[in-house]
Amino acid sequence: MKLPILLLSLALAACSNDPAPNANSEQAASAAVAALQNSSSASGEKLYAACAACHGASGEGNKALSAPSLSNQQSWYLERQLVGFRSGLRGSHPDDAFGAQMQAIAKTLPDDAAIKSVVAYIGDFKAKPAAGTLTGNAKRGADYYSNLCGACHGPVAEGNEKLQVPALAGVDDWYLLQQFDHFSKGLRGSDESDRYGYQMYMMGKTLPDAEVAKDVVVYIQSLAD
Ligand code: HEC
Ligand code: HEC
Repeated sequence: MKLPILLLSLALAACSNDPAPNANSEQAASAAVAALQNSSSASGEKLYAACAACHGASGEGNKALSAPSLSNQQSWYLERQLVGFRSGLRGSHPDDAFGAQMQAIAKTLPDDAAIKSVVAYIGDFKAKPAAGTLTGNAKRGADYYSNLCGACHGPVAEGNEKLQVPALAGVDDWYLLQQFDHFSKGLRGSDESDRYGYQMYMMGKTLPDAEVAKDVVVYIQSLAD
């Protein structure tokens, strides 16, 4: 790599707000991979044991590991994301370290039946909207949301299965902001063969800056209360 390019990428890495996977999450990842390698499509409960170290015993998520809550997500969406991680459609961009971590785990789920049963198990968790962690201008966020996001994600961010668009209300605000940032930078969804991710990748370019994106997420968070 030429020196100026190297310096530029170091500078960019230093500016990024994303925490990098740390020793704790690496450890949890290898434990999960080992546990799943020995599993069959058995029960969702058994399979979920490998997920709990990061996503929490009842799918509540863990911000320190950048692992989102799963209990507020729709089953069809969780299933499609796991299929996407497993096929490499998601988590393959070289700068998407957390996506890569989740991809490695999804690849060890033995088959489609295993994906279905672990998702069914997650579906039994009590959905409890994730607590807000961000502050911003919710009024400005509401204007952008209704003009640019509501048509697909729904008036109260409830999602739309027909369009394969997920609910956003109730999902961790820090995770939504991070994923929006990843779409806008092309870390997620920039591969045209990722039909739904690509739609959202195009939308990732529509908000003027990171401040507005935060305002939109703060507004989405208010819809879950
Ligand atoms: C080592 C920690 C770790 C383990 C173990 C783990 N995950 Fe994840 N998972 C993550 C991280 C980090 C992300 C966020 C990926 C990203 O930023 O794109 C994630 C994302 C996901 C997503 C996408 C959610 C969304 O809204 O985009 C699903 C679904 C998921 N995990 C399910 C599972 C299941 C099921 C298991 C067990 C078989 C599991 N995870 C085990 C860390 C983990
Ligand atoms: C054309 C329809 C469409 C519009 C408009 C749209 N989205 Fe999306 N969005 C999607 C689809 C489809 C997905 C699922 C992508 C995938 O499967 O990887 C998605 C996923 C997301 C996710 C990831 C959620 C998760 O848990 O993984 C976030 C965050 C998001 N959208 C935010 C927004 C915001 C903010 C706006 C407005 C600026 C917006 N979207 C506008 C279609 C849309």
